[in-house]
Amino acid sequence: MGSQHLTIDGAMSRALELAARGPAYGPNPRVGCVLLAPPTGTDLLRDRATPEAVDARARRVLAEGYHRGAGTPHAEAAALADARERGIDVRGATAVVTLEPCAHTGRTPPCADALLAAGVAEVVHAVDDPNPAAAGGAARLRAAGVRVVRGVRAAEGTALLHVWLTAAARGTPYVTLKTATSLDGFVAAQDGTSRWITGPEARAHAHRVRATVDAIAVGSGTVRADDPALTARATGPDGVERLADHQPLRVVVGRSGIPPQARLRGEGGALVHVRTHDVREVLAELGARDVRHVLLEGGPTLATAFLAADAVDELHAYVAPVLLGAGKRVVGDLGVTTIGAARRFRTVEVRRVGDDALTVSRRIG
Ligand SMILES: NC(=O)c1ccc[n+]([C@@H]2O[C@H](COP(=O)([O-])OP(=O)(O)OC[C@H]3O[C@@H](n4cnc5c(N)ncnc54)[C@H](OP(=O)(O)O)[C@@H]3O)[C@@H](O)[C@H]2O)c1
Repeated sequence: MGSQHLTIDGAMSRALELAARGPAYGPNPRVGCVLLAPPTGTDLLRDRATPEAVDARARRVLAEGYHRGAGTPHAEAAALADARERGIDVRGATAVVTLEPCAHTGRTPPCADALLAAGVAEVVHAVDDPNPAAAGGAARLRAAGVRVVRGVRAAEGTALLHVWLTAAARGTPYVTLKTATSLDGFVAAQDGTSRWITGPEARAHAHRVRATVDAIAVGSGTVRADDPALTARATGPDGVERLADHQPLRVVVGRSGIPPQARLRGEGGALVHVRTHDVREVLAELGARDVRHVLLEGGPTLATAFLAADAVDELHAYVAPVLLGAGKRVVGDLGVTTIGAARRFRTVEVRRVGDDALTVSRRIG
């Protein structure tokens, strides 16, 4: 890094790359930070504070950092620590950060204060912080005389933080509904069996998704019918299946009890039983547990309740080239009686996973 030079735009690309290294799960966003040496020979810092007016020349990269998960230093603090360790003076530097520096004291002190204390002269960030508890960092920096430029590479910053931004702005978890169906829209055969409709590649993919969320939720009917473990697992190069490092909370929704011998009582994430049929109560309970992203894995009754309550942000629909003709439908009655009232989503990705197809779609608006 010692002799590396980047423009502010290039530094933001690097900061986005660093941010993506952080964990997608957890209460905190993924953030990256690059510290650039002060501009030399001009008074660029007096220019208008807009993304178009940022310094276009390459400057020396002083330090960088990213957030590695709750309880660890924020990206700005990690970059400042990186500079300190290498004896680099950051006075007058520009901090290029993917998210507005926070202004609140949580498990770590406010980043805006840390940047001020270090003598940083300019802060460039991609995305404003929508979290009411943490916002205000830009205002605090400006009030202290730091030039703040917002909105550089904002679209990429927003795309990276889509799940977190949605959950933080709304105060309830982002809900992804996962379904595994036959071509004709069934999730189980007439006798209730559903293992397996999709193939091993689709199931492995779904396990990788599990390892990125905070919680997995199912209805009590699925616990009774399938006895799922609800763990995130991966098969190693040795062919042995192991638990992933991160295990999401295991959430069962329903008023009936969970059998004492249920597999989801075994090794894995903590078990939470939400004894309600009320979707808002489920979301409030999970929000109170710092869940930002919950993966809803069915069954049809729970999926229908969430869809009817307009509480699904994203759909992961795995469709297998299998026909059942009859059985349990993926969702029940949503009160749609005419095509104009259909629940529509926007497709963001379609991919082939083994013999199956995965469509990822998101809420419109
Ligand atoms: N292929 C797939 O992707 C997939 C995934 C999951 C399940 N399945 C299949 O789906 C079938 C099970 O279907 P299911 O619909 O019974 O499962 P479910 O949605 O997991 O569970 C339904 C139960 O959840 C409780 N519940 C929670 N919220 C509710 C609400 N808002 N309204 C009503 N009840 C609520 C009720 O039980 P209480 O009496 O406890 O309150 C209800 O009987 C099985 O055959 C399983 O194999 C397939």
